[in-house]
Amino acid sequence: MESVRLSDTLTMDRIIHGHWRLMDWKMTKEELLNFTEEVMDLGITTIDTADIYGGFSCEEAFGDALKLKKGLREKLTIVTKCGIVFPCENRPQFETHHYDNTRKHILMSAERSLKNFGTDYLDLLLIHRPSPFMDPAEVSEAFRELYVSGKVKNFGVSNFDNTKFEMLSSYMEYPLVTNQVEISPLHLDVFQDGTMDHLMTRGLYPMAWSPLAGGELFTGDSEKVLNVKKTLLAIGEKYGEKRLDTLAFAFLTSHPGKILPIVGSGKIERIQNAIDALKIKFTSEEWLSVYKASIGKGLA
Ligand SMILES: NC(=O)c1ccc[n+]([C@@H]2O[C@H](COP(=O)([O-])OP(=O)(O)OC[C@H]3O[C@@H](n4cnc5c(N)ncnc54)[C@H](OP(=O)(O)O)[C@@H]3O)[C@@H](O)[C@H]2O)c1
Repeated sequence: MESVRLSDTLTMDRIIHGHWRLMDWKMTKEELLNFTEEVMDLGITTIDTADIYGGFSCEEAFGDALKLKKGLREKLTIVTKCGIVFPCENRPQFETHHYDNTRKHILMSAERSLKNFGTDYLDLLLIHRPSPFMDPAEVSEAFRELYVSGKVKNFGVSNFDNTKFEMLSSYMEYPLVTNQVEISPLHLDVFQDGTMDHLMTRGLYPMAWSPLAGGELFTGDSEKVLNVKKTLLAIGEKYGEKRLDTLAFAFLTSHPGKILPIVGSGKIERIQNAIDALKIKFTSEEWLSVYKASIGKGLA
């Protein structure tokens, strides 16, 4: 598996496996362990999750599987997130859906994640969403404490616009190593709102969430979806590739900005389809034909 270096202590696979839908996979901890080892056999050792996934249950479910095999955690790069809270069965103490990026909450959430995974370090911790009420000095202080104690090796953000990224960066003692954002052939905002330019200016690589638009590429029937599909499949003919997901992933991985797509499937063959995208490199003309099909108009 191709990999990219984000810092001295962080190398991530070019294709990452995402755990947002883990509870939907309905796996026992033994099945989840087997599945994780199958994913690793394909070459993926970077896992993306978040404290809130599965109503604050996915981290612990994954940790229960990891604990079955000594030494497995050390072979993985674990990315998790904090900062979103909402009331649910596992968190009845929260009264409303809101963002909490205070020092106290970040520290509490990171400790909880460590406990859930049964580990003493996280490879990368992301602030899940920016809050208009965020105090960057508090975030920086929490990150400093987590770094100094060795509990978190790297820090980043998710869903931040460029201004907020720069604002938080200016308070940080340790660099933000990535911004995890939505990118798929159906969601191209990052190429239009300056997010991609900003990351490339800084020499950073985005992690791309919902690279198949959460499955909409397969299930949607809008004109946009149909046009994007048709365009991807026409490009696929040139490469002898009929798999729509492989072509959608190739659209992302062909971009010069070294996008790191997070495949969200619970099916091993679909994870292989994502990895196979790395064998295809779209030309500028091919890439822009998908772009045009998605935005629904020609270029200037
Ligand atoms: N930072 C954030 O705010 C944020 C937000 C959302 C997600 N994420 C991260 O990004 C990861 C990926 O997101 P995602 O799960 O939305 O990714 P995705 O790959 O865009 O969508 C995955 C969904 O598409 C379905 N799918 C895949 N191939 C299909 C096919 N051929 N036909 C029909 N359905 C198909 C999958 O079902 P099967 O499981 O049945 O294959 C799954 O339900 C998450 O796990 C999470 O780690 C982050």
